[in-house]
Amino acid sequence: MALSTLHRMKVEPLSPLIGAVIDPGPLKGASDAVIEVVRQAIHEHQVVFVRGQHLYDDDLYALAKQLGQPMEQPTAFFRNEPTVASFEITLERPPRADNWHTDLSFYEAPPAYGVLSNMAAPQAGGDTVFSSSYMAYNALSAPLQQVCRMLKLVHSPGEGLLGYARRESGPAAAERIANTHPAREQPLVIRHPHTGRLALYVSGGRAFTEGVAGFKPDESEALLRLLCAPYDNPNHQARWRWTPGDLAIWDQRAVNHRGLSDHFPAFPHRKMQSVFIGDGRPIATLAA
Ligand SMILES: [Fe+2]
Repeated sequence: MALSTLHRMKVEPLSPLIGAVIDPGPLKGASDAVIEVVRQAIHEHQVVFVRGQHLYDDDLYALAKQLGQPMEQPTAFFRNEPTVASFEITLERPPRADNWHTDLSFYEAPPAYGVLSNMAAPQAGGDTVFSSSYMAYNALSAPLQQVCRMLKLVHSPGEGLLGYARRESGPAAAERIANTHPAREQPLVIRHPHTGRLALYVSGGRAFTEGVAGFKPDESEALLRLLCAPYDNPNHQARWRWTPGDLAIWDQRAVNHRGLSDHFPAFPHRKMQSVFIGDGRPIATLAA
């Protein structure tokens, strides 16, 4: 009997390709068996949404701990939020995640999962959209897939993260992040450790992606434009409109995500907590 049958978890796919709304009951204090069913749903649907959980701070950390190893955020040392980070958008603090990315892809062993927990949602807008990296790979022709499997991308914290650190905490903070996380080559195509499916490993909005290793700048630019285009295809996407208490849990190696900025400045207030969960696997070990 499948675990999902055993635990009678309701799973409603948002589309055949990506995303599902699941109802596993309260995740606070859930058994490891229930968490395993949730993990299976994440792998199958790439991103799952759970309503009405209201898990914040220690409760969110506890859930992350059951899913793997909660990871220190690069901004932790100046925000005093080692693992669970709060992000609040107000008129004074505009949105800054509105471009396709997978989190911390410049780490040797980047997160396996990401969790967002909503505390305050705009009256309209501010959705988070997820787009499939499996479909981004599948969209390519077989010969181009073959070429991509030989390539590496250069990943780095990028101006987005460094600029944020600079604004929050001054140039020394940004410098420290840049020094701790030098640019790193990662395989462009990876084999997912659980599903065995091939996926592109790229930040579609170039957030943490500098270019193709060994390519001339114009070659790199042309190829990245081609590779990133499928993330904009609505057929590859799941879009979530937030209500306080909602959770999104996604597979960092199977999707890109972006937080839409359309609510700003009309309905500016949006508050989230996030946590990244690692499994200790360097991306290099997943090269296809
Ligand atoms: Fe993110």
